[in-house]
Amino acid sequence: MKHGALALAVFAAACAKGGPSTPESRGRGVYATYDCKRCHRIGAEGGDTGPDLTFVGFRKSPEFLALWLKDPAAWQPNTLMPNFKLNDEARGQLAAHLGTLKGEAYRGAGGAPWDKVEPAKRGAEIYRRAGCVTCHGEGGKGGYTNLNAIGGKVPAVEKAREGFSREELVKRISDGVAHPVKADPAGPEPLLKMPPWKEALKADEIEAVADYVLSLAPASKEDW
Ligand code: HEC
Ligand code: HEC
Repeated sequence: MKHGALALAVFAAACAKGGPSTPESRGRGVYATYDCKRCHRIGAEGGDTGPDLTFVGFRKSPEFLALWLKDPAAWQPNTLMPNFKLNDEARGQLAAHLGTLKGEAYRGAGGAPWDKVEPAKRGAEIYRRAGCVTCHGEGGKGGYTNLNAIGGKVPAVEKAREGFSREELVKRISDGVAHPVKADPAGPEPLLKMPPWKEALKADEIEAVADYVLSLAPASKEDW
């Protein structure tokens, strides 16, 4: 009896501090300790120097996140993101925490940020805040390293208009690409994969971001 009561009290104290300790909850602590919010936003909270992390666990695998945290410059040579030289345990916990972030924080923040901008800017805001930009780059110009992908990088999408109809584009963004073609068939699967956005975004949001991608194409001669 006594032992049970003590265990209950310890459990209650742990809950008061934010729940029993898990890798994810410890990772939240690491995030706070290193003040990641100085540069990153989750929901309504944080800065905008680095990408919004509200959807980071949807777009990036825990495996990729742990590697990114090990050496951001290995993926993006000129990155502003510091190498925090975390030990493997802290890095794993942080990756586990980031892996839980799949968009829920916008609910606490009173809705998605793209519902708060004028309709003409909605697609661009989704591109930025849902994090298409973290793989396809600013303005869809590409550039992120993707080992063993064809070309070694995530493709640019600024010219998608030349290769896809609007309908094809919407489908491509909705369904994603689960098994990308490998540059070396014997090598590992590329770590950055086009996510199936229909699991995270509503149909009208996918259409808005598709229209933004279409708007990126540089004007060609035929338009004149
Ligand atoms: C000085 C600003 C800065 C700080 C501090 C910082 N980051 Fe970053 N971070 C960036 C920038 C900028 C990028 C975008 C990569 C690029 O293109 O350079 C980035 C990218 C990322 C990415 C991958 C991109 C994505 O969203 O899909 C993750 C994950 C990340 N940071 C996590 C963290 C964590 C966790 C911390 C704290 C330990 C942290 N960052 C601290 C600036 C920062
Ligand atoms: C985790 C990285 C990642 C994120 C985030 C991401 N993509 Fe992709 N995307 C890819 C990769 C990799 C491909 C190439 C797919 C393949 O293997 O054919 C791709 C392909 C595409 C294509 C087809 C282009 C082509 O030439 O095949 C479009 C369009 C596209 N993405 C748009 C988007 C939009 C819009 C978003 C945000 C809602 C987004 N992507 C988010 C990685 C990403």
